[in-house]
Amino acid sequence: MESGLTPEQHALIRKILVAQTESVGLIEAPIVEGLLRDHRCRCVLDVGCGEGSFLLRLARQMKGVRFVGIDHNPLAVADAQSKIKKRSLRNVTCRTGFFDARFERLKYDAILTRYTLQHASDPPAFVAAIYERLRKKGVFVSVESLDAYSSAHEDNPVWERFRMSLAAIHRRGGSNDSIGKSLGRLFAAAGFRNIRVQVVLCSPSTVGWKRFQALIRISAEAAASLCPDLFDRTLLEDVQMWVDDQARLEREDPFLCTAIASGIKP
Ligand SMILES: C[S@@+](CC[C@H](N)C(=O)[O-])C[C@H]1O[C@@H](n2cnc3c(N)ncnc32)[C@H](O)[C@@H]1O
Repeated sequence: MESGLTPEQHALIRKILVAQTESVGLIEAPIVEGLLRDHRCRCVLDVGCGEGSFLLRLARQMKGVRFVGIDHNPLAVADAQSKIKKRSLRNVTCRTGFFDARFERLKYDAILTRYTLQHASDPPAFVAAIYERLRKKGVFVSVESLDAYSSAHEDNPVWERFRMSLAAIHRRGGSNDSIGKSLGRLFAAAGFRNIRVQVVLCSPSTVGWKRFQALIRISAEAAASLCPDLFDRTLLEDVQMWVDDQARLEREDPFLCTAIASGIKP
């Protein structure tokens, strides 16, 4: 998925990825950094780095670590490369590449996937291929969606419709929006040890209403534009009106879940 996108489709998805980095990414990034520091990682491969906002955030915080991003979407790689150049970051590179069992056999201290494994057609084979490219004692860190656990402090029908429509879009695109549930099992089957899985909630109470509002608005606008049959204009207008009501959103505190898993190659 996401390799044969038109520039217009790519621009919509890029906006979602940036909004994710600027919302839930604020919680995920320090956890990922902590895992990379704990394992004294010097060289990290980010598989499916997309437009690079999350990867560059890590690179800015961890100047002593060398980051390599790959993505099979050349438009995303071009975005990431231009950001790297603009910010004069010297510890990160990015290039086009497709990750599977045939990917080059260089070894890394750590491999990261964020919202990438959920697009794999064969997740066990994907995780096995990651395992093969880690050094002994290397760590695999995977940040993935756990949409099935997303909910709210107080239920709201608009939030339910939003979530159901996005789930239908994921199904159509062949992506597993709840692969977070399976990370522990996938890691264990590949041979990883010391497996830990934590859950992160992105909500008005955790990232602030403004960031949450921006993420939901951008996701809804992209969904309505990319898949109008699954996300209609009425739903878009309902979502926009709902997320703009700060007091209501803060009271209901809807949340999206992601899972962060780590495992060591023995
Ligand atoms: C949802 S985006 C996430 C991007 C980025 N990791 C982030 O957190 O914003 C998933 C990305 O993975 C890329 N991707 C999916 N499968 C891939 C594979 N097998 N090899 C390389 N890139 C892949 C897609 O092109 C897309 O840019």
